[in-house]
Amino acid sequence: MARLFFALWPDDKTRQQINDVIEALPAKVGRRVTPENIHITLAFLGSVRDEVTECLQDQAKIIRADGFKLSLDSLDWRKKPQIVWLAPSFVPDELTNLVMQINKAANDCGIKLEDRPYKPHITLLRKAKRKIPENSFRTINWNVESFVLAQSVTHPEGVSYTVLNSWRLK
Ligand code: 2AM
Repeated sequence: MARLFFALWPDDKTRQQINDVIEALPAKVGRRVTPENIHITLAFLGSVRDEVTECLQDQAKIIRADGFKLSLDSLDWRKKPQIVWLAPSFVPDELTNLVMQINKAANDCGIKLEDRPYKPHITLLRKAKRKIPENSFRTINWNVESFVLAQSVTHPEGVSYTVLNSWRLK
């Protein structure tokens, strides 16, 4: 079994810019996400068997979606999940379309997804128990050109992610 999710994986420059935002946050507010773990989840798939992983890869291959620009302009504390996140305040149609195709791929492989509304975001701090102080940061413009299937592995020292495969957008 493998714990999987589809995600957007930032290029090195975007990852660095996002990590700069993380490092500018007061460390005592929460636990910082490490730079290599920075991503936006498209769909969380849970723990799946090897046949399902293969099915997901076959379905991902036939997804046809356009690339898009994502403007990461909203930095916010979310009380219930206790995270600080960076998010786009505007969700491009291309992203909505990609998520719809990914959800269909997951359904076609027999996965029942959570039906809570999709809110794209990058988790920057976990276990954040209080609001962050007023913080100025420059909007990050991310040119999204691909999506990935990633595996989450939990170690005693924390979680790490491995990209299993990646597909280009048009
Ligand atoms: P989060 O950053 O808001 O916690 C890998 O765990 C990724 O899948 C994370 O980005 C996490 O979002 C997301 N995710 C969505 N639903 C999840 C769930 N039920 N359990 C764990 N992670 C989930």
